[in-house]
Amino acid sequence: EAAYRRELVGSLIHDVPDFPKPGVVFKDITPLLASPHGFQAAVTELVTTAPRQIDIVVGMEARGFIFAAPVALALGAGFVPVRKPGKLPGETISESFELEYGFETLTMHRNAIPADARVLVVDDVLATGGTVGATAALLQQMGAELVHVSVVMELGFLGGRARLAEQGIDNFSAIL
Ligand code: PRP
Repeated sequence: EAAYRRELVGSLIHDVPDFPKPGVVFKDITPLLASPHGFQAAVTELVTTAPRQIDIVVGMEARGFIFAAPVALALGAGFVPVRKPGKLPGETISESFELEYGFETLTMHRNAIPADARVLVVDDVLATGGTVGATAALLQQMGAELVHVSVVMELGFLGGRARLAEQGIDNFSAIL
């Protein structure tokens, strides 16, 4: 059941100290992905917490893709990627957000989502909330309805949830 799945998922995400730089504890999802039961448990949790009647699941490059695509299939929804600049061949819209050093820009195809679509956003980790925030802004540019945001893991001490709330995003859930 849900508690067992959450425990399994948590046990398969490993802390790696001082990666990618000193002082940072990296959350390594590769053991989770390498475990068929663990990966299935994570996808099942994301699917069971999703609201009804989702038309499109949006996933963010690169680790978000891994979870968003199977969730889309399970929900009978389409999958739409958010990508880093220069990767999408069609006309794109973009949003930039501040990182510790410099800026990150995310892009989507301008016509990827019908204006009345109900959208679920799925990513692996919510850290500062910059990535989800920019994705929400992209959806707003398109007039799509962001129904819910689901992540595998939230790093609470980085304040991402509060940042999303400031942006009007309250429908958020995390497995861990
Ligand atoms: C990571 C992670 C999230 C994002 C969370 O992606 O997969 O998308 O950071 O951080 P935030 O809440 O502070 O924005 P990363 O940019 O490392 O790219 P990757 O998925 O390609 O590894």
